[in-house]
Amino acid sequence: MLKKIENLLNEIKSFDSKDLNKIEEFRIKFLAKKGIINNLFSDFKNVPNEQKKLVGQKINELKNLAIEKVNNLKSKISSNNKFAEKIDLTLPGDSIKIGSRHPLSIVRNQIIDIFNRLGFTISEGPEIEDDYHVFSALNFPDEHPARDMQDTFFIEKNPDVLLRTHTSSVQVRTMENQKPPIRTISPGRVFRNEAISARAHCIFHQIEGLYIDKNVSFADLKQTLLYFAKEMFGKNTRIRLRPSYFPFTEPSAEMDISCNLCGGKGCNVCKYTGWVEILGCGMVDPNVLKSNNIDANEFTGFAFGMGIERITMLKYGIKDLRLFFENDIRFLEQFKSAY
Ligand code: PHE
Repeated sequence: MLKKIENLLNEIKSFDSKDLNKIEEFRIKFLAKKGIINNLFSDFKNVPNEQKKLVGQKINELKNLAIEKVNNLKSKISSNNKFAEKIDLTLPGDSIKIGSRHPLSIVRNQIIDIFNRLGFTISEGPEIEDDYHVFSALNFPDEHPARDMQDTFFIEKNPDVLLRTHTSSVQVRTMENQKPPIRTISPGRVFRNEAISARAHCIFHQIEGLYIDKNVSFADLKQTLLYFAKEMFGKNTRIRLRPSYFPFTEPSAEMDISCNLCGGKGCNVCKYTGWVEILGCGMVDPNVLKSNNIDANEFTGFAFGMGIERITMLKYGIKDLRLFFENDIRFLEQFKSAY
């Protein structure tokens, strides 16, 4: 009997399995009601008295060892399982969502960057303005229909308060505070009372530039804008200037670039002309210099102004201006940039 127990002890010690079914079989074999160990207890009465103590101890040892074995093997499996259920270390990590810059901010920063390289500073000013800075100081005569060119949101009549319709008002403020040479661009939000459509909005963004110094000529204006166009839309971009009218510039022009989407061959964006308009410009009207206490005999200057929405739409082939204001994440996510 002792020999038999000894063998069983060895069998229990050497048993190992990760299979729950095998462990259960093992448990039934040793620990069930009709299992080996209970059978040993039943046989116990046949053990000669002098061996009873030793055999009793051995059977108990066997029982404890079997219970311990089953518990150990089961807990090993379940702790492995728990781990596996919660974390699969082989899965790739969840990427952290990072935001992207708004396309208008990307393009604004690109434009600023290009003019920075030409030595232009950045100036900013208030969105809520007065008539003087938006119109009078820019050679818009009182009650002149030219003011209707820009559908103004008037807030109050007396004293006059209105929302700026262009950032030229910032340049008036720059001229008030700074002596020439002045070389500055003013990015910012502007407001016009226009119906909202795919091509127009009552709020949009501009960058206007002003350069005043001795001997500034139309050639300087043209060269500056050609450089800008090539940097913004690619080396092969060509420009074309068409005569136009603005109260604050004389002569005035509107600038087209060769259509960046079809390369000038003609498409529905350029309406098969090969050209798209991107900005207004001209030589600063001497009246503007005078009303800002700059000697028009000593100094000349050029100015230009463009809508950031328009540049962005051309650059990325965006067809509807309203997309910029809807903040639809599916639209915004498409613009990843270093700017
Ligand atoms: N201020 C003009 C506008 O908003 C643009 C412009 C600026 C035109 C400077 C000529 C010179 O339409």
